[in-house]
Amino acid sequence: MSIRDSAPDAATTSTVAAPPGFYLEEVLSVHHWTDRLFSFACTRSPQFRFGAGQFAMIGLMVDGKPLVRAYSMVSPPWEEHLEFLSIKVQQGPLTSRLQHIRPGDRVLIGRKATGTLVPDNLAPGGTLWLCGTGTGLAPFMSLARDPETYDRFDRVVLAHTVRQVAELAYRELIEGLGEHELLGEIVREKLTYYPSVTREPFRHQGRITTLLESGQICRELGLPPLSPATDRVMLCGSEAMNADMRTLLEGRGFDEGANNAPGTYVVEKAFVTK
Ligand code: A2P
Repeated sequence: MSIRDSAPDAATTSTVAAPPGFYLEEVLSVHHWTDRLFSFACTRSPQFRFGAGQFAMIGLMVDGKPLVRAYSMVSPPWEEHLEFLSIKVQQGPLTSRLQHIRPGDRVLIGRKATGTLVPDNLAPGGTLWLCGTGTGLAPFMSLARDPETYDRFDRVVLAHTVRQVAELAYRELIEGLGEHELLGEIVREKLTYYPSVTREPFRHQGRITTLLESGQICRELGLPPLSPATDRVMLCGSEAMNADMRTLLEGRGFDEGANNAPGTYVVEKAFVTK
């Protein structure tokens, strides 16, 4: 039996018009990273504007109504299509359906993008740490491919922590960014990718909290100990990860930034858990 035979009606949107507040977009490709993680690309309305790091409400029409959750855009603002990264939860109201989408199916994309993980909310300069766990990588994929990020900060560290090596989504893409036609030069100069794994052997092991607390990651990268004088931090992970990182950062004198009040760190939870 194919995935499609067993799928709930992921494509129920194909015959209906977009409900108010949404664009109806066509799925272009789907990639299954693991049995818990997938990503998909879809068309993008030319009217849909967003900044790197922001999220929108994404989903499907189910029983004639929009069923949507917040998803950060993985794709950078300059890209023609949109891309999203999602977990798969077998009993999850949305992801139990969304995981079965196929090219040609329709998805709902909320018209308004928003979010706190934007460079405007941080004081400029220094090293920007993008710390994500699991699908919390998503907004950082957009930021790491937006040239503006590199205009604002001297250096960018993209730290992604997952349980298993296979969950290091986009690893090859990130490792290849140095060869990118337009971004290559700036990425080679400024971006460091630091993937780490907690439940399997890998070249970097351990939680980001532990790696920062012990100073191991800074030593390995030849950076001074984490300090609000030299560093800016964006967090996107589970409630527990965000809470532990907040405690660590505030203990070192970091202050949380928000719209119109830039600080030295900002946080957003990795949204979809169902
Ligand atoms: P661990 O394997 O030690 O729990 P999940 O798949 O549950 O969202 O976890 C993604 C990654 O986040 C895992 O590597 C997990 O490590 C890590 N993680 C979970 N809780 C925390 C936390 N409180 N602080 C830092 N990292 C965490």
